[in-house]
Amino acid sequence: MGVTFEADPAEIPYGDVGQPGSILDIALKANIDLDHACGGFCSCATCHVIVREGLNSCNEPSEEELDQLDNAPALTPKSRLACQCIPRGECDLVVEIPGWNRNRAKEGD
Ligand code: FES
Repeated sequence: MGVTFEADPAEIPYGDVGQPGSILDIALKANIDLDHACGGFCSCATCHVIVREGLNSCNEPSEEELDQLDNAPALTPKSRLACQCIPRGECDLVVEIPGWNRNRAKEGD
């Protein structure tokens, strides 16, 4: 999408959707329309994202997250659930919303 957003740790959490400081929390603050059908409770996998850069600076996925990711289409080794993936802020992240999810968001407009 070509959107750049710099998160301010002092302002986290931005909202109450997803884990505090998660990619979903940050994305919603940046006005990125990232699907989150279950409200950020790790029970839908609609917030599937691919962390192209900086994945090592994020928390480890829980078993619950890995179970949900198994249901996500187009899974990659860098796939995470945006509502559960929390960057530690050690480096910049490059996060991709999978094409199937972007298309669905457009259809919902
Ligand atoms: S919003 Fe449902 S699993 Fe992330």
